[in-house]
Amino acid sequence: MIRITVFASGRGTNLQAIIDACKRNEIKGKVIAVISNRKNAYALERARKHNIKAIFVDPKKFSSREKYDNKLLEILRLLNPDLIVLAGYTRILGKKIVDEFYGKIINIHPSLLPSFGGRGYYGLRVHRAVLKYGCKISGCTIHFVDDGVDTGPIITQRCVPVFEDDTPETLAERVSKEEHKAIVEAIKLFAENRLEIEGRRVRILSKG
Ligand code: GRF
Repeated sequence: MIRITVFASGRGTNLQAIIDACKRNEIKGKVIAVISNRKNAYALERARKHNIKAIFVDPKKFSSREKYDNKLLEILRLLNPDLIVLAGYTRILGKKIVDEFYGKIINIHPSLLPSFGGRGYYGLRVHRAVLKYGCKISGCTIHFVDDGVDTGPIITQRCVPVFEDDTPETLAERVSKEEHKAIVEAIKLFAENRLEIEGRRVRILSKG
């Protein structure tokens, strides 16, 4: 059973997918805490509903990003999770955290990386850019986090069609459904110890 900590700033539908997959025993693991930078994030409410520790760390209470990251690091050391999932977390984790937990932090990104990733590409902005470019397919990527933005080794990707009449919202909704499947698949593989990072590539080991 792996112990998972989830960072989330928003509605937390990916968090919910993870909680549900743990309950179904599809993921051999348990969400032990949800950390947010937003007090009213619905993800925190979901955590409370499932008796999961909901931790709000107010960025306004810290005079610098470094101090904020130190606080997060202190919390993470106490929680000592096997896996950290960034599921719609709007801040970038500091290098210290990434270095200490490298290989144990994964992120969900709503495009097929390396397209439409990096600074400024988050939320609906991603889908707006995909539509503006005229892409015919889009999708999501689950990757390990390194010290760049959306640059870490890719674990899995799923794609969706882009339709003529799509708006950023309709495309986001279609991608979101695939994210739920992709994040569960990635965590399942992680929990089964089947992910091996080899430079930029993630090798998926066969079962058993
Ligand atoms: C997802 O689209 C994810 O790709 C991005 O943030 C969104 C989070 O959605 N990083 P939710 O809060 O899990 O519903």
